[in-house]
Amino acid sequence: MKALVLAGGSGTRLRPITHTQAKQLVPVANKPVLFYGLEAIASAGIEDVGIVVGDTHAEIESAVGDGSAFGLNVTYLRQEAPLGLAHAVLIAREYLGDDDFVMYLGDNFIVGGIDGLVERFRAERPSAQIMLTKVLDPGQFGVAELDADGRVVGLEEKPREPKSDLALVGVYLFTPLVHEAVSALKPSWRGELEITDAIQWLIDAGHQVQPTQISGYWKDTGNVTDMLEVNRLVLESLEPRVEGDVHDSELIGRVIVEEGASVRGSRVVGPVVIGQGSVIEDSYIGPFTSIARDCRVSRSEIEYSILLSRSSIDGVRRIEASLIGHDVEVTPALNAPKAHRLVLGDHSKVQISS
Ligand code: TTP
Repeated sequence: MKALVLAGGSGTRLRPITHTQAKQLVPVANKPVLFYGLEAIASAGIEDVGIVVGDTHAEIESAVGDGSAFGLNVTYLRQEAPLGLAHAVLIAREYLGDDDFVMYLGDNFIVGGIDGLVERFRAERPSAQIMLTKVLDPGQFGVAELDADGRVVGLEEKPREPKSDLALVGVYLFTPLVHEAVSALKPSWRGELEITDAIQWLIDAGHQVQPTQISGYWKDTGNVTDMLEVNRLVLESLEPRVEGDVHDSELIGRVIVEEGASVRGSRVVGPVVIGQGSVIEDSYIGPFTSIARDCRVSRSEIEYSILLSRSSIDGVRRIEASLIGHDVEVTPALNAPKAHRLVLGDHSKVQISS
């Protein structure tokens, strides 16, 4: 069995961060979201992984390398444009050969991994196995319609009038039959080859498509709200450790201060991770915050946020629910609005009243 990991795409929902960074490499608790997926694949006993890459191929290749750090054997498959999830399967045809495979969306996060899903597929081997979960806003997802016996009868991509609240989760298991389905597809109204259409083709041709409803936690980290939520979740499970310097400060709960980081005159309420080489001084770092490497937070307050590498916040109260890119500077301005909620691209320079 192989894995096909999708790490191309355009990442429009995470702009401006994705102008300069592959969204699959945005860190969750200071580790790229893609790495959690690769670890889940390795843990399920799969070694051969094809990673579909697009414009950001160089960045992904330099982060993942040959996959040996994950115990994987990685092959990169170049997709010339993000023409759809089923298009990614189409270009991977030769690589996948006649193997069964798990298709994993590189910006998705599945708590508890995929061991159980892969095990069930191996044992029962339906033509396709899809994962479903209840969501509040099904119109944003691929949506499945089930009959009274729980069989999948229809699938629709981002429907205007969803027929259920069951969304497709970003992990799919296929036998090689899917290639026949994919090669029969025509682009949808949005110009993409849709994986939902390929699965619908399998259903219409009378093949078995097995749904598994997962109660575990799943998030598509393609937007900021979900990204912050996944960050919260992962931070909650980390073991506290202090390897950097801490002076005149209070660390409460799960706090990680990585080697070379320094915390002075500050109060840090976990769960929080402070990356290598970052400096925190005279500040409050609130729960569910990830600070990447080589950042500086001075005389400021920040919570429930992600700060990417080399950014600085100086004299700002208070930042919440924000995703701040690389090399950003946030400083105070005159006059004071009461709250700030920010999505800042790399190299931004923003002045905030404080
Ligand atoms: P999406 O999040 O559905 O698409 P996108 O990356 O274009 O993002 P947005 O909607 O914000 O513009 O893609 C899910 C995953 O699949 C993601 O990791 C990108 C990847 N992908 C490909 O590799 N090739 C493709 O053709 C598409 C559409 C997505």
